[in-house]
Amino acid sequence: MLDIDFKYKDLISHLRKIKPFDPEIAVILGSGLGDFAESVDLDLSVLTSELPAYPLSTIEGHAGKIHFAHFGGKKLLLFQGRIHFYEGYHLSECILPAYIAEKLGVKYLIATNAAGGVNRNFSPGDLMLITSFIGFNIKREMTELLGISGIKEKQNFLEFPSSVLNSVILKAAENENITLREGVYWYNKGPVYETPAEIKMTRNFGGDAVGMSTVPEVYYAAARGIMTSSISCITNYAAGISDSKLSHNEVTETAGKVKEKFEKLIKTVLSLEFR
Ligand code: HPA
Repeated sequence: MLDIDFKYKDLISHLRKIKPFDPEIAVILGSGLGDFAESVDLDLSVLTSELPAYPLSTIEGHAGKIHFAHFGGKKLLLFQGRIHFYEGYHLSECILPAYIAEKLGVKYLIATNAAGGVNRNFSPGDLMLITSFIGFNIKREMTELLGISGIKEKQNFLEFPSSVLNSVILKAAENENITLREGVYWYNKGPVYETPAEIKMTRNFGGDAVGMSTVPEVYYAAARGIMTSSISCITNYAAGISDSKLSHNEVTETAGKVKEKFEKLIKTVLSLEFR
């Protein structure tokens, strides 16, 4: 079994040394949603390329920065960019934002992502609160990574999403009159988009949105006792739902258009009481 604590020893001790405060809430900013970091008060920004053992981000729309910031009286840890399995990285690297959040004592994690809309009632530009996920083999892979003792003993099932955090997010959407869809996120490892046949199956088997990230991180965070929720930005119709060809450009373009709505939602979440 890989010793992740050993692998990231220097990284964590470096971050502990430079941190301006103990962050309480972490937000992982997905494809095209990274600009959120520029809209809050930043206390310290770090380039992940300058951190020991931190994998390089290879995707456009993923800046590769970690910020200590604050907003609404909350101390934040923001990840501008994440690490994907489809970039060729190991699971121990994909979970790194959640691992860092845990090691810095974060209590809540909100993971955001770009996803393809599978539910025919969804349109590009919609935001979806994840109610559950479908991730074949992820439980087995995560157990291999963490060992049986790494998954909290009492957890016969994973507490994801956090009901506390989901109700705060729903309340924030209601307060701001933001339409927030709810649905099941189907995790595919990529690297290529799904086939129309796969999307048909996904829909028939209960998936509402499809994406290539988030599940390893939220699984890790929830297994370590961090209250974790996730919001998808529906950036495109999933394969076969419309005639247009899927592209990463479309994903970042739609995410850019949704930016204001997304920022408003997250900021309202951050200004509410978490209970
Ligand atoms: N499929 C998988 N991942 C994605 C998609 C998609 O359609 N859109 C954004 N990320």
